[in-house]
Amino acid sequence: MEELVIMWDWLALAVRWLHVITAMAWIGSSFYFIALDLGLNRDISGPADGEEWQVHGGGFYHVQKYLVAPERMPEHLTWFKWESYSTWLSGAALLMIVYWAGGELYLIDAAKADLALWQGIAISAISLSVGWLIYDYLCKSALGARPTVLMVLLFVLLVVMGWAYNQVFTGRAVLLHLGAFTATIMTANVFFIIMPNQRIVVADLTAGRRADPKYGKIAKLRSTHNNYLTLPVIFLMLSNHYPLAFATQYNWVIAALVFLMGVTIRHYFNTRHARAGNPTWTWLVTILLFIAIMALSQAPLMQDTYEESEARGLTRTEMAFAASDHFDDIMNVVPGRCAMCHAREPYYEGIRRAPKNILLETPADVAKSARLIYLQAGVTHAMPPANVTFMEAAERSLIRKWYADGASALPFFVAQR
Ligand code: HEC
Repeated sequence: MEELVIMWDWLALAVRWLHVITAMAWIGSSFYFIALDLGLNRDISGPADGEEWQVHGGGFYHVQKYLVAPERMPEHLTWFKWESYSTWLSGAALLMIVYWAGGELYLIDAAKADLALWQGIAISAISLSVGWLIYDYLCKSALGARPTVLMVLLFVLLVVMGWAYNQVFTGRAVLLHLGAFTATIMTANVFFIIMPNQRIVVADLTAGRRADPKYGKIAKLRSTHNNYLTLPVIFLMLSNHYPLAFATQYNWVIAALVFLMGVTIRHYFNTRHARAGNPTWTWLVTILLFIAIMALSQAPLMQDTYEESEARGLTRTEMAFAASDHFDDIMNVVPGRCAMCHAREPYYEGIRRAPKNILLETPADVAKSARLIYLQAGVTHAMPPANVTFMEAAERSLIRKWYADGASALPFFVAQR
């Protein structure tokens, strides 16, 4: 049982590792091509549309761009798609491991919507797919010819989704789902639009037909959206480490401002790559947006007050841990060793908000975080940091016994939450 919990945590780390690596490969290659494309020297003779000389790792590279395609199909053509697909696939796996399997703790917020776990998972899965359908419909409609209007509508769609997620999910899941929603659009752009269009062009060429430049244009529109969405997605994915960003009622407004920062920052670099000026004003706007975000994060945190937590009934999982024989002893240990930091009003020097929004004051708090307490203070010595509150070995062993006891009364997938 405990072995499974430990293996599950390692699985989560392994998938997260993979996800970060694939995302780096995807974003790295897409940033490279954006900079290359914008910076091409177009003032050249010959059939190519532009070219650039680059030096890297001891060699010189001479890259040429053909707008539609070269005269003849090259024998070997490198495609860029698995960077994107593997990022999406590993991200979907991570979403399932953390937010679906761990849904009672991370996804569902009974104070907002009293959903069964399966309902939460259904909303998560369906919203991610439907979002793409709406976006794709907008791009293919007559608006496709008006990129700026389309971009504004895309922004509105994202803000509405953030608001809607905030009606049902925990703050942490709100920002994460908005990130997943955006990233799904980005990968679907590659899978359903950019790649198929490139295949048509390649097939035309191989058959000796002239390729229609419209396919390149459509792909370009989608890839511009991806360009502006990249930075906000990274912010949203990292935000789950920062309760200040997600645990306020304005988390969806914060997300909206982050999407705007994505545009201002990218605009600066896009302009620089194109050697079309130095729009430093974008940094001023970015900083102002960031200050607005910091101000919004001061709104009251979304968490049970001490009294609410004392008064509220326990869920099935929490009940199993609260019913253990060791629970009284645990309540004598955990708040005493942990609550100077993990409290609604922490009093440990330098800590102003409960780290990671983990509260360890009331029985419901402690029962709710059983697995995390077990992992952070039972199995490992991660908490308290540097053992500042002098936790003893016997207390850690008590945590392990308590957890094993409570978990044995629950099916595995419930216990690991
Ligand atoms: C001195 C302040 C302090 C004390 C005391 C303390 N913590 Fe923490 N705790 C932190 C900080 C800071 C973080 C965030 C660490 C990070 O950002 O990775 C944290 C994070 C956590 C997390 C979240 C880990 C994660 O990454 O999901 C858990 C769970 C936790 N602590 C449990 C405990 C338990 C249990 C105790 C008591 C045995 C305890 N903490 C005592 C400061 C403290």
